[in-house]
Amino acid sequence: MADINLFTPGRIDGFDTKNRIIMAPMTRSRALAGGVPSELAVEYYTQRASAGLIITEGVAPAAIGLGYARTPAAETAEQMAAWKKIVDAVHAKGGHIFMQLMHVGRIAHPANRYTSESPISASAVRAAGQMWTDAQGMQDLPEPRALETSEIPGVIETYASATKNAIAAGFDGVELHSASGYLPMQFLSSNTNQRTDHYGGTASNRVRFVVETLEAMGKAAGSINRIGIKISPAMPFNDIHDADPVETYTTLVKAIGNLGLAYLHVLQSAPEPSYFKMLRPLFNGPFAAGGGFTKDSGNSALASGIADFVVFGKLFTSNPDLPVRFERGAELVPPDPAVFYTPGPEGYTTYKSL
Ligand SMILES: Cc1cc2nc3c(=O)[nH]c(=O)nc-3n(C[C@H](O)[C@H](O)[C@H](O)COP(=O)(O)O)c2cc1C
Repeated sequence: MADINLFTPGRIDGFDTKNRIIMAPMTRSRALAGGVPSELAVEYYTQRASAGLIITEGVAPAAIGLGYARTPAAETAEQMAAWKKIVDAVHAKGGHIFMQLMHVGRIAHPANRYTSESPISASAVRAAGQMWTDAQGMQDLPEPRALETSEIPGVIETYASATKNAIAAGFDGVELHSASGYLPMQFLSSNTNQRTDHYGGTASNRVRFVVETLEAMGKAAGSINRIGIKISPAMPFNDIHDADPVETYTTLVKAIGNLGLAYLHVLQSAPEPSYFKMLRPLFNGPFAAGGGFTKDSGNSALASGIADFVVFGKLFTSNPDLPVRFERGAELVPPDPAVFYTPGPEGYTTYKSL
């Protein structure tokens, strides 16, 4: 097989990508009140259209899925009109873009939401930790309410209707955020899922919510090959813990490996064990690897066959034309965490392309 590197064109079911570089989903907290993306987001995403694929920041499928300050949703006509502008602008630049659906579950503070509904989760287990709110500063995370079994189809339905909205707005596809300790991972993980119904207990039961959600999203999109998924096995972020992540994630990927998904996106958060090596053989479709990659380590991952795509996060915040810089061997601007989540253009749209 010819050498594959970051600049080799790729294929995700339905379209060709100009390179193997994916821009990671990144919450940037610049949305307007009511979960509406701002005009700044049009510029931000357009500046990054040289990626083979952009995955948007986490977007709530419904208001109850919002948790952080100034984050967007995909529920109302006003929100979707703003998303359509973003999609059209990225497409006009020759880019491709998936929307990431992120339901935070228990990682939510009521002051950051435009709904009075309480945060929900698989079980009523509070996450240790605090969250920023514009109104009250840092606040403890509240204890969530455990979903009744009879409510779960309704939650899955919010993912389906947001998927329908995203496809109608022109998105190339939709990614289910099943990583980083948010709602789907709260179902997957043993410390947050203490359910006694068929969504809890064994690994096969804990993966059920994710599998059913992907299937519902696929139906809503018209085809499951427009749906991707992100997972982060064993990542402790947001106070999440699983007694046996190897069992959980091999069970999950075996269950979804032949559904015909657009891709599997794996965030590796510790050196060992390699979930890339473990999960890739179980998944029939494009495999995207993320977590701390550089140009060199990304090229090696592709050359060695560990992945088909490499996902870059932080570096895209401060280098809007990251693929161009990689290709020219140009210097990179270091990311600045101080402006990751601050309102306004500074640190968002103010980084220049070469
Ligand atoms: C500012 C910032 C916001 C992030 N927000 C999200 C998010 O909304 N959804 C998500 O799946 N991951 C999110 N992540 C994680 C990234 O998608 C990525 O997995 C992680 O940063 C590791 O890749 P990197 O080392 O190349 O940055 C975020 C990361 C950063 C730096």
